[in-house]
Amino acid sequence: MTNLTLNVNGEIRSASVPPETTLLDLLRDYFSLTGAKRGCDVGDCGACTVIVDGKPVNACLMLAGQAHGRAVLTIEGLATRERLHPIQTAFEERAALQCGFCGPGVILSAKALLERNPNPTVRDIRDAISGNLCRCTGYTKMIEAIQEAARALRGETRERAVPVPVEGARP
Ligand code: FES
Ligand code: FES
Repeated sequence: MTNLTLNVNGEIRSASVPPETTLLDLLRDYFSLTGAKRGCDVGDCGACTVIVDGKPVNACLMLAGQAHGRAVLTIEGLATRERLHPIQTAFEERAALQCGFCGPGVILSAKALLERNPNPTVRDIRDAISGNLCRCTGYTKMIEAIQEAARALRGETRERAVPVPVEGARP
């Protein structure tokens, strides 16, 4: 067994796992963080994208042991208790997702992009999400949403506070 400790969404988490356990298995099966999706499980679809030490990675390709001592951000760590992250707000406002399966991965790829490049071109955005396959949307609204989020994060538009939906609440 491999004993590991890492920072997940700002919390120190530990586990003892078989050495072949992937980071995706660790998040989903040991920590019950199911936002990172298991699509292809071989590095092709990007549905499992999380951010490790600031860089987007395919969690299905990374061993859990490689995340020991590192900081992992999953989609569950993006919104605060009170409000969505501006990227999530922009995706919601632009209706940029349909089934939503690819959403956590796309949004985290966008977050990593906007942290290293606050004013990306459409080409930069296309490159950043090129590893995230979406079967539903055609990507246009996602790109518009990421541009909108970039403007909000640069302070050029007034951010609309969108409350985090409460499960079971009536619309
Ligand atoms: Fe990891 Fe598809 S599930 S890239
Ligand atoms: Fe369905 Fe992207 S919204 S796969």
